Amino acid sequence: FQPKRLAGQKVLVTAGPTFEAIDPVRGITNHSSGKMGFAIARAAREAGAEVTLVAGPVALPTPRGVRRINVVSAQNMYDAVIPLAQEATIFIATAAVADWRPASASQEKVKKDGSGTAPTLAFAENPDILATVAQSERAHSGALYCVGFAAESHDLLVHATAKRARKGVPLLVGNIGPATFGQDDNALLLVDAQGHSELPRASKRVLAQQLIEQIAVRHPDGAKP
Ligand code: C5P
Repeated sequence: FQPKRLAGQKVLVTAGPTFEAIDPVRGITNHSSGKMGFAIARAAREAGAEVTLVAGPVALPTPRGVRRINVVSAQNMYDAVIPLAQEATIFIATAAVADWRPASASQEKVKKDGSGTAPTLAFAENPDILATVAQSERAHSGALYCVGFAAESHDLLVHATAKRARKGVPLLVGNIGPATFGQDDNALLLVDAQGHSELPRASKRVLAQQLIEQIAVRHPDGAKP
């Protein structure tokens, strides 16, 4: 691992879950711990990059030297990321962004009305942050290198390959099962235009360093030793 591989690069990372409000006290979220994204932000910083971490609600300490922006919902994350992506040279989307949000969050706590009838929730689709950034002018011109993640329960290579194409990113990273939520180790499948390779099971800290190295090798300006 060459420590200053990413000197001069501006790395933007999303991490953690999003929280989609139902009313002022309730919401919908997921089990993402944010650990992988935080480890990636730390490794990128240690590799010499200027790092901004846009984090959903997680109880993790901010890695040293990393600028952190806390967000709650997918829309908040989108609003934070889009302008930052105009400056970044590498975008790594590890966040487990909710695909849908309650169509209209209630301003007041939803109360039982005594009738025994459960309320129903209507959903609206959230913007796809990664796909939006990957379609930007800067991504197309090669000024911004985009990396996506996939968590799948089965057929990881098939889904990761399809997701890479759908999102329009040069590198798609799959979490190799079983589900890694909250755990301290993981194994990764890397899918790019050349094919696929694996980073075998290791701590998220070590995997993050290895992934940053792989991104540095692939990113046009990041390959300088
Ligand atoms: O489509 P799916 O959610 O499986 O894609 C996962 C990848 O896309 C991850 O990199 C995730 O951070 C990103 N994503 C996003 N915005 C969304 C949904 C997913 O940036 N609304």
